[in-house]
Amino acid sequence: MDIQRVGIVGCGLMGSGIAQCAAEAGCEVWVKEADESLLARGLARISGAWERAEGKGKITGEQRNAFIARLHGTLAFADLAGCDLAVEAVPERMDLKLETFAELDKVLGAHAVLCTNTSSLTVAHLSPVLSPERLPRLAGLHFFNPVPAMPLVEIVRTLATDGDTLAALKGFVQRLGKTAVLAPDAPGFVVNRLLVPYLLDALRCAEQKLATVEDIDTAMKLGCGHPMGPLHLSDFIGLDTMQSVADVMFEAFGEPRFKAPSILRQLVAAGRLGRKSGAGFYRWEGEKRLEALPL
Ligand SMILES: NC(=O)c1ccc[n+]([C@@H]2O[C@H](COP(=O)([O-])OP(=O)(O)OC[C@H]3O[C@@H](n4cnc5c(N)ncnc54)[C@H](O)[C@@H]3O)[C@@H](O)[C@H]2O)c1
Repeated sequence: MDIQRVGIVGCGLMGSGIAQCAAEAGCEVWVKEADESLLARGLARISGAWERAEGKGKITGEQRNAFIARLHGTLAFADLAGCDLAVEAVPERMDLKLETFAELDKVLGAHAVLCTNTSSLTVAHLSPVLSPERLPRLAGLHFFNPVPAMPLVEIVRTLATDGDTLAALKGFVQRLGKTAVLAPDAPGFVVNRLLVPYLLDALRCAEQKLATVEDIDTAMKLGCGHPMGPLHLSDFIGLDTMQSVADVMFEAFGEPRFKAPSILRQLVAAGRLGRKSGAGFYRWEGEKRLEALPL
């Protein structure tokens, strides 16, 4: 199956990036949000990226207009009815994901593939709200942040996912100009299984004042050649998302390396969620990282 029409639920950090890439790749895209203002904010993020790309001469005005014409915002699941693929990108909460999947299963055609962008939940745990005929077409499609810049997508197969679905998803990932790896349906898949304990260790180092926030980041950037330090990256991912992911992985594996340190819970409770809230380990002005904040 050739995926032409794509539905995305959630136009936050990830959903907006997936919608942007799919529209750029020539797909017709319907993106569903929870209310008008969130939808407007998500669509503005995408059109802002295209405006900047045109300003830098990376795309033409004609291309930008074509991208905009292929991107449709909606508040109704029913508008996703004609999609070949639906990708769920709502917050990392099982209850929200189950509600979303139940709604999508009702409106999507029989041929449609249904995917979650979850970072840590087990994809097969979404099965109970789906009709049995959908199960061969259920999979994980795990993008990385920021979606337009990150070249990897993990395709997660459950025991029920069929070969046609995997082939369709591989074709879709290729069409977006990205590389796919096949990952097992276990919390964290491949990348987060390795990345999350490292990030949580860095948070513990900051909590124990091993070094300053800036120095921990500089050490890993210059000492290991990472493009950004682990505390900077945590702010970038979103500390609330990090906490949810750590909780799910700790519950699944029971290993202390997956346990969210208390500094993470304290920052989230204080509303310091990282870049998206303007403050985390650092102060942020939009995309711009400013000084480290006291812990
Ligand atoms: N942030 C990351 O670095 C990252 C990376 C890979 C995967 N993920 C995963 O992607 C998913 C989304 O994460 P995010 O960082 O984009 O979160 P986010 O909070 O930025 O965005 C989630 C969006 O979903 C919307 N939403 C909630 N309920 C909805 C509903 N019923 N209908 C439509 N929209 C609804 C919210 O309004 C919000 O805009 C999570 O499962 C997360 O684990 C995140």
